[in-house]
Amino acid sequence: MLNLAPLGELAPQVMGSTDTSVALADIAEPRGINERVVSMHSEWEVAMGEGADEDDRVADLIESQREFYDLRAPDFGDETVPDRRVSGHMASELARALIDEFAPTGDVLELACGNGKFTRELVRHARTVTAIDGSPRMLERNRREVGDSSVTYVNADIFEWQPDRRWDAVFFGFWLSHVPPVTFDEFWALVRSSLRTGGRVAFVDEDDRGTMNDDIHLVENVPVAPRTLRDGRRFDIVKVYWDPSELQDRVSALGWQVAVRRVGETFLYGSAT
Ligand SMILES: C[S@@+](CC[C@H](N)C(=O)[O-])C[C@H]1O[C@@H](n2cnc3c(N)ncnc32)[C@H](O)[C@@H]1O
Repeated sequence: MLNLAPLGELAPQVMGSTDTSVALADIAEPRGINERVVSMHSEWEVAMGEGADEDDRVADLIESQREFYDLRAPDFGDETVPDRRVSGHMASELARALIDEFAPTGDVLELACGNGKFTRELVRHARTVTAIDGSPRMLERNRREVGDSSVTYVNADIFEWQPDRRWDAVFFGFWLSHVPPVTFDEFWALVRSSLRTGGRVAFVDEDDRGTMNDDIHLVENVPVAPRTLRDGRRFDIVKVYWDPSELQDRVSALGWQVAVRRVGETFLYGSAT
């Protein structure tokens, strides 16, 4: 199991960007990610005694995982084309049951929607869903396969994106494990700024039992896992296998009322207000 507590303690309370999102049909050049990560890591850098090279490597990881998922999109979810040693696939029945438990009404924001495993369940409850992802190919698959006019698709880098409105509920499935520890607090601040007063958050991910199914190593103190495309090309992605009670403590320390529990054999479900 990865002990993330020291990293969590060192993670800076940082926020603030002028990033923009764009409609899928109007994909703009993103702001320089390296520039952004270097600036937001300045406190962390001092605390860790590390420099710009390390910041560049975290930025490279964020870029690498975004590129990986875009190239993987056509095969994503296809267990006959594995991208890792042991699949971390969640059965659609469990995904459906967890979204039914969440039962989000009104306008819902889904971060890192992918090809729609959870989008198709969210639309059964929500009035509208705003589905954000950094992969145009994932968004196209989601639009085609979910096929629901209540969904608005946005192509954006979550590490750059700033909301221009608020939602009644926010959901992210298999995304939190891809957030580098150094950006954890900033990510939760983004979720807070996306939520209306009284709004609710839910998330699903692999938990620390999933580490046995993966090959984690550390790059600049960020847990990293290898992923492979159909054509053999290999990418590194960020992969943090949280212990549910440690995750609950970390999110609670940011001021949320939060409960995180284990579900299934290797998953966690969290809800927060
Ligand atoms: C593990 S998949 C989860 C997809 C979906 N939520 C699900 O559970 O099936 C991670 C998703 O994050 C997206 N992603 C990766 N990096 C991103 C970034 N920087 N900004 C936005 N989305 C990103 C990928 O394109 C991918 O769809």
